[in-house]
Amino acid sequence: MSEQSSSVTREHFAYLAARTTQEDDFLRELKDAARSEGIPSIWIAPEQAALMQILLRLAMAREVVEVGTLAGYSAICMARALPPGGRVHTIEIVPAHADFAEKWIARSDVSERITVHRGKGNEVLARFAENSFDAAFLDADKKSYIDYLSQCLRLVRNGGLIMADNAFAFGQLFDDQPTDPEAPAIRAFNDHMATIETLQRIIVPIGDGLWIGVKLNRAFA
Ligand SMILES: C[S@@+](CC[C@H](N)C(=O)[O-])C[C@H]1O[C@@H](n2cnc3c(N)ncnc32)[C@H](O)[C@@H]1O
Repeated sequence: MSEQSSSVTREHFAYLAARTTQEDDFLRELKDAARSEGIPSIWIAPEQAALMQILLRLAMAREVVEVGTLAGYSAICMARALPPGGRVHTIEIVPAHADFAEKWIARSDVSERITVHRGKGNEVLARFAENSFDAAFLDADKKSYIDYLSQCLRLVRNGGLIMADNAFAFGQLFDDQPTDPEAPAIRAFNDHMATIETLQRIIVPIGDGLWIGVKLNRAFA
């Protein structure tokens, strides 16, 4: 037993990634096609997808909302962890990304379980009803994460999951002068998340750092 976590190195990540449930050929083809169409390779890692799928299954999630569709990779992964009749509502602001995602979602095994909503994350989230989701995944513009979180605290039911990507600010969390313009917004979001008493929360050091929060109906004690 150990009271403190072991340091995780690149070697550990390669080790765990090699032993995690792997992505399938369809997802590999989707990524190849996205690259060849000039879509940036900023989808989640397969091991992060596996963790999120496990969490969604444990939460018995049926209704999921995602901000940031890109090529549809994470939406397809999450939809695969839902029961028949479940649905991922994924929001995307860039029409070319939404077009690509819709095309590949239609070819996927979970085409009936995903709806792509075009528009700004904040505006689309505002249309959904209170407590209508079992889980949310934030993976879009980092400057809006604090606003997205406040919307998700309204939209996700008690006991549901709120996940957010890039807690490690693209690897620049501790840089004195981060080159990524979104790094300061991530730091502000991380500090804000740490004040939300009605979320039991943790940053899991997988991918670029995954925030996982469980929404509670009272402050966590
Ligand atoms: C990191 S990518 C999402 C990756 C995707 N979740 C995956 O893992 O497969 C971020 C996406 O958010 C979109 N985006 C950026 N700002 C947005 C906004 N205000 N509202 C909705 N989508 C936005 C970008 O166009 C981009 O496609």
